[in-house]
Amino acid sequence: MSEQLIDVVISKREDQADAVAVFELMAKDGNNLPAFDAGSHIDVHVTPDIVRQYSLSNDPDNSAVYRLGILNDPASRGGSVAIHKNFHTGAEIQISAPRNHFPLDLSAERTILVGGGIGITPMLTMAYTLRAAGKAFELHYCCRTRSSAGFLDELAAEFGDCVKLHFDDEGDGQRFDPQGAFAPVTADTHIYVCGPSGFMDWVISTAENAGFDKHNVHFEYFNADIDSSGKAFEVVAEQSGVSVMVGENQTIVEALEAAGIKVDVSCEQGVCGTCLCDVLEGTPDHKDKFLNEEEREDNDQIILCCSRAKSSKLVLDI
Ligand code: FES
Repeated sequence: MSEQLIDVVISKREDQADAVAVFELMAKDGNNLPAFDAGSHIDVHVTPDIVRQYSLSNDPDNSAVYRLGILNDPASRGGSVAIHKNFHTGAEIQISAPRNHFPLDLSAERTILVGGGIGITPMLTMAYTLRAAGKAFELHYCCRTRSSAGFLDELAAEFGDCVKLHFDDEGDGQRFDPQGAFAPVTADTHIYVCGPSGFMDWVISTAENAGFDKHNVHFEYFNADIDSSGKAFEVVAEQSGVSVMVGENQTIVEALEAAGIKVDVSCEQGVCGTCLCDVLEGTPDHKDKFLNEEEREDNDQIILCCSRAKSSKLVLDI
């Protein structure tokens, strides 16, 4: 399952706001990078052992460059801290080709983009694409403080009044009120949200409780607070002919690896989809933030880094 990586050079690093570094990447061979569309992300190989996913944030019309905005988050598992410390202009790194699990539906009459903190990055690509298509949109950017918010100058210069800023410490009148922002509820309004998981849960549930169809509420989690512990169960790896018990505080990935079966992983938080696997028998207990509701209900796929089993046994196509 190993994919061809792309060698790139960091052509520019700009530190913005309190803890956001903006990186521009260009192909090492000088060619254009693969084209991408709004909502796409890439894998960044931070070290031989650390691969992280980051949304692209530049205008998709320009594939000479990929631009990333990365928050230095000491509370995360080390990827962003290593990037802030070690990635400088001129450094050569490897990335994947773009993938898109967060596509934009350009048929919508009205589009509402909501970025929480560094979740603004995919919203920028969407704003560029909507503007190029002549589509109406509004972009709500929510941050703790003005000084923590990256991309403010660009948002003002490029999108003007389409952007509404909301800061936690700047008084009641300007705080984000999703119910007010989303009204009226119409069938041709689409909402997109990206940001910290608690913020996203709030925005998504507000939209759904207001009456928006689930298919019109689009989201991409970049981290998740998932409790992946639970009752022990058996996993049979059909292709390998191996059966393992997954302990109460163990993930399926850990149990399989202990039995010598290597599973490709990346985020290890149930958000990127790298460890997706077909289920041949049994009922998964989905704990990830990657599969949508319909895919969960089908119960024929499972995210191995965090999900568990409702049945006593799962047979997997691995
Ligand atoms: S490794 Fe990302 S979802 Fe499992």
